[in-house]
Amino acid sequence: MSLFLDPGTRLVAATHNPGKARELAALLEGRFDVVSAAELGLREPEEPESTFVGNAIVKARAAADASGLIALADDSGLCVAALGGQPGIHSARWAGPTKDFGHAIDLVESRLADTESDDVSAWFVCALAVAWPNGPVVAVEGRIDGALTFPRRGGRGFGYDPIFIPEGGALTFGEMDPGAKDAISHRARAFAALKAALF
Ligand code: IMP
Repeated sequence: MSLFLDPGTRLVAATHNPGKARELAALLEGRFDVVSAAELGLREPEEPESTFVGNAIVKARAAADASGLIALADDSGLCVAALGGQPGIHSARWAGPTKDFGHAIDLVESRLADTESDDVSAWFVCALAVAWPNGPVVAVEGRIDGALTFPRRGGRGFGYDPIFIPEGGALTFGEMDPGAKDAISHRARAFAALKAALF
């Protein structure tokens, strides 16, 4: 069995997050015939693992085995140094059931204040996994380091973008042109690793 993905291959993108689905589609550059897990009516699996890579593998495995298609899944989040890497794999959960990232950002700010640390360093991680139905799985990880800033700035992007300034930059991800974010993001870096491995 070949572990290379030929152009035009039908892939299921195992994400139910519209913001991430848009970015995944942009990063795939029209190379594949992508259908989403939501479109196929696949169930969103639990995320039982304690690492980004572990969770991406669980999601890809579940989507591939349920659909019979090669599946691409990601797991990503924001890690804050002074919070011991939190919210990390729980980044989506911090926004609560209504996915309110204003609330999640307030929580990061108040937890950070509680530490009385002046260390605002943080990083985004994106793990990507490609699984073949009842077959192998390949997983990679990308990371972008930066610093947090409060109050939030910029209305672009999603999630924690308005409080994250990538290293060497002045604008938050929420203020940056989407193309500029896509050029350096944790997701772009994970994709570069995946392309090198599979395309
Ligand atoms: P999950 O991968 O679905 O568990 O959720 C990842 C969560 O991390 C998202 O809902 C966002 O809150 C956050 N996150 C991941 N990538 C980004 C990003 O590029 N910008 C802002 N927030 C992100």
